[in-house]
Amino acid sequence: MSVFRIQGGETLRGEVVVPGAKNSVLKLMAATLLAPGLSTLTNVPDIEDVTIMSELLRRLGCEVKHVDETIFIQVPLRPDHRADYDLVRKMRASICVLGPLIARCGAADVAVPGGDNIGSRGLDMHVEALRKMGVHVNNEHGYLLAECEGLTGANILLDFPSVGATETILMAAVTARGESVIENAAREPEIVDICEMLVGMGADIAGIGTSTITITGVSDLTPITHRVVSDRIVAGTWAVAVAMAQGELTIHGVPAEHIALPLEKLQATGAQIDSGGQTIHVRMDTRPQCVDVVTLPFPGFPTDLQPQFIALNAIGQGASLVTENLFEARFRFVQELARLGADVRTDGHHALIRGKEKLSGAPVEATDIRAGAGLVLAGLVAQGSTTVYGVSHIDRGYAHFVETLQGLGANILRVDE
Ligand code: UD1
Repeated sequence: MSVFRIQGGETLRGEVVVPGAKNSVLKLMAATLLAPGLSTLTNVPDIEDVTIMSELLRRLGCEVKHVDETIFIQVPLRPDHRADYDLVRKMRASICVLGPLIARCGAADVAVPGGDNIGSRGLDMHVEALRKMGVHVNNEHGYLLAECEGLTGANILLDFPSVGATETILMAAVTARGESVIENAAREPEIVDICEMLVGMGADIAGIGTSTITITGVSDLTPITHRVVSDRIVAGTWAVAVAMAQGELTIHGVPAEHIALPLEKLQATGAQIDSGGQTIHVRMDTRPQCVDVVTLPFPGFPTDLQPQFIALNAIGQGASLVTENLFEARFRFVQELARLGADVRTDGHHALIRGKEKLSGAPVEATDIRAGAGLVLAGLVAQGSTTVYGVSHIDRGYAHFVETLQGLGANILRVDE
């Protein structure tokens, strides 16, 4: 078992190049199923979830080969259509094969992922939309069993702009008969990425990046070579790290508009931010001011940066209120932050954080990917030594996490215990 050992107190300085987005690449890998033949994805991050998705695609009959940051996926003419529980339980995002399997095979048996450490995470919007498109879906023995004679386009008004549901509908609709309209669709950059890839494969999609997406079904798609959009959450994590530890950082590969609100919040903490093209420069010379944050779907503040901002507020000047609107259990990690001396009180969707001048190092447990990142950032500024357990969560979503921080001057080591 690996742990991270951190000696707090170093400022951070240097440059980072941000890899492809975890929350995009997994869906793009699933989308390759829509066209038999060889598809290639570039800018693929070196993370555990990509390994799990590769294994899932292999079980569906694909040949998957990784060469550095490129992944080659050879999709068979007749893929298998079962995603087993042993993989789905490791990675909830496996559910993204549901849409493409129904489109390609007319059937899909996908294990129900269940809840995870950040909340219950329903699938009702995915299922309801597929039913509207003519799919029979039953939940039996822990599996969603989906079947259809032929997908038909439908008008779908989502209760909430769910990222996952928007993706499932997109992948089901691109080769359905007729037109589908998704209203209240998600607008995240990762949604734009998958739409652009599908269009490159021959799909007919209008309204990309807006909350009304219109998909006109085409008879078939062709394989593609596509570059994965860079990870705005990773970029945001490094920017928060510098705002907490102080220093100077240039982040390459992510346009500032993908994290406009987090960057505005960082400016309000006292950080100097300059950006242009795909580069973001962050400089911080003082203890940050606390900032209020409310998580919302894009272009609102991303829930995946909420734990990192709670960590920042824990050492900020003043007090702040953080409101979590997406995942009810995402505040669980504040118990761990409290072990470092943070003063955080939660009540339902709200966390009240009173900033402390100093945190003190302690052993803590990462409970999910972003909570893990938040705890490491807190450890970087805590006095003394912090050991972070449960780092397999961090490895699921951050490529070369320790090496990147070491390159910036942090005193952090991965230790096998
Ligand atoms: C994706 C991201 C996750 C991010 C989230 C919101 C991946 C692999 N994960 O998750 O990191 O935090 O978007 O930006 O891309 N919901 C339902 N019923 C449904 C679908 C969703 O109730 O059918 C609820 C969820 O429980 C949650 C909210 O809607 O409370 C948002 O979920 P959604 O946008 O679908 O997030 P994911 O796609 O699961």
